[in-house]
Amino acid sequence: MAETSSPFRLDGKTVLISGGGGGIGQSLVASFRAAGARVVGADRDATMLENLDLAAQILFDQADPKATRAAITAYLATHGAPDAVVSNAGYTRAETLDMLDDDIWASELAINLSGAYAMTDPIVAAMAARGSGSLVFISSVNALGHYGNPAYAAAKAGLVAYAKAIAVERGGQGVRANVICPGSVRTPAWDHRLAADPTLLDNVLPHYPLGRMVSPVEVANAAVFYCSDAASGITGTVLPVDAGLTAGNLVFVDDVLRGK
Ligand SMILES: NC(=O)c1ccc[n+]([C@@H]2O[C@H](COP(=O)([O-])OP(=O)(O)OC[C@H]3O[C@@H](n4cnc5c(N)ncnc54)[C@H](O)[C@@H]3O)[C@@H](O)[C@H]2O)c1
Repeated sequence: MAETSSPFRLDGKTVLISGGGGGIGQSLVASFRAAGARVVGADRDATMLENLDLAAQILFDQADPKATRAAITAYLATHGAPDAVVSNAGYTRAETLDMLDDDIWASELAINLSGAYAMTDPIVAAMAARGSGSLVFISSVNALGHYGNPAYAAAKAGLVAYAKAIAVERGGQGVRANVICPGSVRTPAWDHRLAADPTLLDNVLPHYPLGRMVSPVEVANAAVFYCSDAASGITGTVLPVDAGLTAGNLVFVDDVLRGK
């Protein structure tokens, strides 16, 4: 019988997904399982990972880079390097410059950038020693232009630089690294904003050329692609999954040129 394996499948592969219990994280788990992968979920406490289809779990607070590195190193010592990693955990509350101070800046950099480095650095080393591996960093459109959340944006832009460093310096050992920049996705990350203003989403939609927000599974599908052999020649790239937000300024076109 003819072999029907597709380069888009991940059968027999193991993928580690951080922030696995969040809105995008749960879609990542489901999409990687559907593509045939074995999924190891990471999050800050076990309740976040309940009811997910996981082969194993790793718990750490990514705001603490030392604890993060220790938890990952312990996992690697027992299980070895996963075939792929999706660095997805993230957090922000400081919406504008006015809401920042030194402590908040340090905290948002720690969770979104230093913690992501501490989690992936030992894995990159193990992947390079093995001679293969793929990493995907869930960044944000905030890395590409200013859409608020300045400390988070700086951290997310830092992930782009870090992914490119891995791509360039570890490509020779078979390690690929790519970045996904989602636009607005309605997940629990938006709950605090909607609690303050339940009509907020009405103000979001006019900015999106597709006329809607991005869904979690659209982000997850891009991550599955990046980790699959279908993307074997792709490394060091940045992919907006943003319903067209960064293609231009729809509100400018509508308000100024179309006169809506
Ligand atoms: N929702 C959006 O509009 C949007 C847009 C662009 C990028 N993103 C990014 O997508 C990723 C997932 O976001 P989401 O919308 O699913 O948010 P979410 O709040 O639903 O999930 C975030 C996940 O990260 C975990 N996490 C947060 N702080 C942590 C810490 N200190 N230690 C360990 N884990 C921690 C949470 O427990 C949760 O599982 C994040 O990196 C986020 O920045 C989200």
